[in-house]
Amino acid sequence: MLTLLKLLKDGRFHSGQALGAALGVSRSAVWKQLQLLEAELGLSIHKVRGRGYQLAAPLTLLDPVSIRETAPSCDWPILVFDSIDSTNAEALRAIERGQATPFLVVAERQTAGRGRRGRKWVSPFAENVYYSLVLRIEGGMRQLEGLSLVVGLAVMQALRELGASNAGLKWPNDVLVGQKKIAGILLELVGDPADICHVVLGVGINVNMQMTDEVDQQWTSMRLETGKAFDRNHLVAVLGEKLQAYLHRHQVEGFAAIQSEWEQNHLWQGRAVSLIAGVNQIDGEVLGIDKQGALRLKVDGVEKIFSGGELSLRLRDDS
Ligand code: BTN
Repeated sequence: MLTLLKLLKDGRFHSGQALGAALGVSRSAVWKQLQLLEAELGLSIHKVRGRGYQLAAPLTLLDPVSIRETAPSCDWPILVFDSIDSTNAEALRAIERGQATPFLVVAERQTAGRGRRGRKWVSPFAENVYYSLVLRIEGGMRQLEGLSLVVGLAVMQALRELGASNAGLKWPNDVLVGQKKIAGILLELVGDPADICHVVLGVGINVNMQMTDEVDQQWTSMRLETGKAFDRNHLVAVLGEKLQAYLHRHQVEGFAAIQSEWEQNHLWQGRAVSLIAGVNQIDGEVLGIDKQGALRLKVDGVEKIFSGGELSLRLRDDS
C-alpha cells in the first residue's frame, strides 16, 4: 500500500494501468489499495475517469538524506518507519537489540503514540513529527537533572526559528502557543539512573495537522500558527541542531546554567495555578524552577518544591 503511495506522492495524475504495471498487480488490485489508503491513512484521493488517480495534495515523506543535508552535524543513524506503534517503544526495543547510540527513530504515523500520564498522542500519517532520540547517559543523576526541560527549550527554539514566534514553555515540558499545545515531550529511561542508563527523548510536534476530533485538549500546529505547510524533514533537521547545542551545554555546564533561560520562556511564570497530582490538587503561585528543574510554588505564603513525571499544571480561573 505504501509503495502505491510513494508513486502518488507527487500530486500528479497516474492512470490505473500505469500504477498496476509499476506494482505488478491488476487494476482492480490498485483500486483496492487506493481504498485502503483512504480508509487507513485518512488520505483523500481524486479519481477522475480518463485521467486516473491523484492525491488531493502532494506529500513530502520523511527522508534521512534530506534531513542530513540540512543538518550535517547531526550524524546519528536515523531509523524511519512508515507506521509504528510508538517511536519511543521502538527506540526502547532497539536499545534492547543493542543498537549503538545515539540514534534517532522517526515515523510517518504512530498507532499507539504515548503521551504523559498515560494519555495517547494523536499521530496521523505524514502530518506531524514523531521523534525519539536515544542517548546513553554515563554521568549519573546530574546528567538527567532538568533534561526534559532542556528538550522543551530546544523544541521551542526550533519552532520559533521556523515561524511560531509566540511559542513558549509550560512546566514541565509542554510547548504552547497561548493556551494551545503545539508540542509535547515524553522521556523514558532504562538502566540505572545513578550509573549507566539509556534515555529516550520522545518529541511530538503538531506540524501540518489542521483538523482532528481526537485530541482532548486545546491544540494548535505550525501550519495553523503560520498559515504555511512545512517540510517535516526541514523541521527534524532544525530540531536536531537545536537539541545538539542544548544537550551539549547541559552535559558540560549542568541544568543550573540553563535554569534562568528556561524561566524567561515560561509562559506561566508568576501565574496562579493548580498542581494536579493524581486525585490531589495544590493551589499556589508559580515562583519558577530550581537548579534541578523542579517546580517552585508559593503555597499559603510558603515556597514548596515539586517534581515528578505524573504532575501537571492548570491555570486557576482567578489568575
Ligand atoms: C505529552 O503528553 O505531552 C508527551 C507527548 C509525547 C509524544 C511523542 S511522539 C514521539 C514519541 N513517541 C511516543 O509514543 N510519544 C512521543
